[in-house]
Amino acid sequence: MKPTLAFDVYGTLIDTHGLVSKLREAAGEKAEEFSRIWRDKQLEYSFRRGLMQNYETFAVCTRDALDYTCTYCKVPLTGEQKGELLENYRTLPAFYDVEESLEALKAAGFRLYAFSNGSAEAVETLLAAAGIRGMFLDVVSVDDLRSFKPNPAVYSYFLKKSRASSGDNAWLVSSNPFDVIGAVSAGMRAVWVRRSPEAIFDPWGIEPTLTVSSLTELDESISVYLAVEGD
Ligand code: LAC
Repeated sequence: MKPTLAFDVYGTLIDTHGLVSKLREAAGEKAEEFSRIWRDKQLEYSFRRGLMQNYETFAVCTRDALDYTCTYCKVPLTGEQKGELLENYRTLPAFYDVEESLEALKAAGFRLYAFSNGSAEAVETLLAAAGIRGMFLDVVSVDDLRSFKPNPAVYSYFLKKSRASSGDNAWLVSSNPFDVIGAVSAGMRAVWVRRSPEAIFDPWGIEPTLTVSSLTELDESISVYLAVEGD
């Protein structure tokens, strides 16, 4: 059977910096920095909530991170402006290579899942807005466990939900190094999607099983890896 692929959503399929041009209206030349800090804080808040076992949804982490970022960057957005940004966050754009690659992978027989820190409702909305929901067998959300990646329980939950026979036949596909390291540490294989040569992988000695520079390389990279392994 062709492998099961668990696609991370925010930052891998969907561009979390897709609101930079909108942010320029309020944050001017700080827009890029604002977007980066917002994303970093959102992730930090999810990690901390997971560790503290004080769960709120990823959307709450995103909202609280936006408040922090406004203060940090000294960009005083009104409640209305924040509300509008958070609404736009629900329909962020997909990366350029996503639609075509998913179509090809699905046609080749891979079992595709979306696997995210976002709630199922938020992920369904994002994927539908990007026109790619139909490519996936299902959406698996950490919300069911009230925890976040990279808790190993979350990766085990994915294997159970997708009925992937083992971590050997299931691959995480993610641009987020913390997610790749989390999946490998939990016994899955993982592809790091490094769209930019500037992206840095954490130097922990836990390496991605494979690295690609675009989702278009996935099918061939995984197939070659499995063929060599099977020899
Ligand atoms: C997700 C986070 C990691 O979609 O961005 O799971």
